[in-house]
Amino acid sequence: MAEGSIETYESEDRVFPPTADFASAALTNDRSMYEEAEADYEAFWARQARELLTWDQDFHTTLEWELPFAQWFIGGKLNMSVNCLDRHVDAGLGDRVAYHWEGEPGDQRTITYTDLLADVERFANVMLSLGLSKGDRVAIYMPMIPELPVAMLACTRIGVVHSVIFGGFSPDAITDRCEDADAKMVITADAGYRRGAPSALKPNVDAALAAGAPSVEHVVVVDRCGTDPEMVEGRDHWWHDVMAEAAPHCPPESMDAEDLLYILYTSGTTAKPKGIMHTTGGYLAQVAFTQKYVFDLKPDSDVWWCGADIGWVTGHSYIVYGPLTLGATQVMYEGTPDTPRQELRSADRSTWDKDRLWDIIERYGVTQLYTAPTAIRTFMRWGAQWPNSHDLSSLRLLGTVGEPINPEAWMWYHEFIGGESCPIVDTWWQTETGANMITPLPGVVPTKPGSATLPIPGVFAEVVDDAGDVVKEGGGYLTLSRPWPGMLRGIWGDPERYHDTYWSTYEGRYFAGDGARRDADGYLWLLGRVDDVMNVSGHRISTSEVESALVDHPAVAEAAVVGAKDEITGQAIVGYVILIGSAELTDSLRSEIRQHVANKLGPTARPKAVFIVPDLPKTRSGKIMRRLLRDVADGQVLGDTTTLADPGVVAEIRDRAAESDEE
Ligand code: WTA
Repeated sequence: MAEGSIETYESEDRVFPPTADFASAALTNDRSMYEEAEADYEAFWARQARELLTWDQDFHTTLEWELPFAQWFIGGKLNMSVNCLDRHVDAGLGDRVAYHWEGEPGDQRTITYTDLLADVERFANVMLSLGLSKGDRVAIYMPMIPELPVAMLACTRIGVVHSVIFGGFSPDAITDRCEDADAKMVITADAGYRRGAPSALKPNVDAALAAGAPSVEHVVVVDRCGTDPEMVEGRDHWWHDVMAEAAPHCPPESMDAEDLLYILYTSGTTAKPKGIMHTTGGYLAQVAFTQKYVFDLKPDSDVWWCGADIGWVTGHSYIVYGPLTLGATQVMYEGTPDTPRQELRSADRSTWDKDRLWDIIERYGVTQLYTAPTAIRTFMRWGAQWPNSHDLSSLRLLGTVGEPINPEAWMWYHEFIGGESCPIVDTWWQTETGANMITPLPGVVPTKPGSATLPIPGVFAEVVDDAGDVVKEGGGYLTLSRPWPGMLRGIWGDPERYHDTYWSTYEGRYFAGDGARRDADGYLWLLGRVDDVMNVSGHRISTSEVESALVDHPAVAEAAVVGAKDEITGQAIVGYVILIGSAELTDSLRSEIRQHVANKLGPTARPKAVFIVPDLPKTRSGKIMRRLLRDVADGQVLGDTTTLADPGVVAEIRDRAAESDEE
């Protein structure tokens, strides 16, 4: 990063654009939407749903709300794939590019709306011929290739519910998710390219299905990398074979607004991941609204790029459903930002240029970039010089999501990527919220570096204190006080857990799990998770999930996990482990235990450090004091220890922690 380029400032007082205020801003959207939604938020969302979506049948009731269960746009019927594809083709836009896709090696595919619709119809027929029908669940475990959105949209065409499993997850995660949802089919690929080489997927599916999930009858496999995986006769089918045999046309299923669209699993405060349920009409209305007004998407001229993986909610909403509903042209990229195209690679990896992202923005003329603070901080560390060796002048808006962005990273994004002229939308939302919730509408709401600013029109967020009283100015817990269209409709198979997890902490409120501060202007500053969920590079991982994986190792008797501060990834996973009596502490044991977690949960969950300790600090009631362990991990001065059953333990833990080698 260029020395001295980031001045010290009071970020709260600094406003972008410097002259903007609500009254004088150059408006692409004017302030009236806030006023309209404030006056009658149901009418506001009803108008958006009717304006942005194509309905087979209009809804008769906008909202029915019986805490914690909401129904939006009751009586309305629509099909997701029709909204994303058919209506654009019917409007004469079939030749418009939907995806400029680039594989990590540098191979390219240009996919128009006509192409995408043809593939979706065919694959929907494949699923029908393999015995799937409306309401069935299908697991999708794929790399970032065009067949992934095709598979998702094909599900929506016939009313099949998809459950996308992030490609970085391990076989255990696939087994659990397929079992929980009773999935009938898995759609996968042999492998996907990552960091210059194929990263296997199909073998993980084989391992997962060998361990359980007997409900899975069929596996469809895209041949992405030619790695020649084992194919089980009768169960496994090559994508290209079944597609060649499929009929070309598949009429869309007219779905109820409240029919289940997808399940997406997310980490909770207990070890078992929660199957977050999203339905069709409300979800799509809010996703389309935010795509249009938060990201200011102009489908005729823009090239939108969301750098997330479709395995997370960000990719569901802003690589698949949002942009396609509006008829946008996008870039979709398979690999990692530090992997150059094949033709530019030398044998020596250390000499590889880390400019793939800027190269892509320049070559495709990307107009909006949406990425995570972790990525931004990584780019900052790689250096400020090289983005400037590319022409990034096509960019006109930048977005950030996934974790709180520090003002320094915000300013770097603003200066070096945005050329000081692009508005930045810091978008706070969750898997559970379905779409953006707290973020500025560009041109309407002046921004402050590090603040997600204000709730979007029609969303009501309040900070409360321990007692649940509203905090007008100051810190507390972020809550949502009214239902919103994209909200989760529950946890698959567990309505009670839905109520207990989200709606029981503060009376009448959805508690988001995040801490937040509200400043004098009413701006919200996200402070990170206050529950037992860690946020590592924008990925939610629960402490208890990792703890279960740790105690699953034969040498581990007890374990506690905390998220320690990390400059790049936001938080890093640190495990404290008590060994069973007979276990011998060797140098390799620590890394073996870390690897064990990666095997169980996938590489994102691998602890950065594992400390072997004689005991864990517990309260008199036996609750592990994670705050203390976090302080130890952060290397901070320890707090008050008087409620500890054995205060001596902390000092010992700290000493041991200091001795342990952190990798
Ligand atoms: C965090 C990702 C601060 C937050 C879309 C939330 C953020 C969790 C922001 C949801 C942001 C997301 N500023 N924190 N702009 N966006 N978060 O479900 O802790 O993977 O609760 O959804 O990410 O993570 P999830």
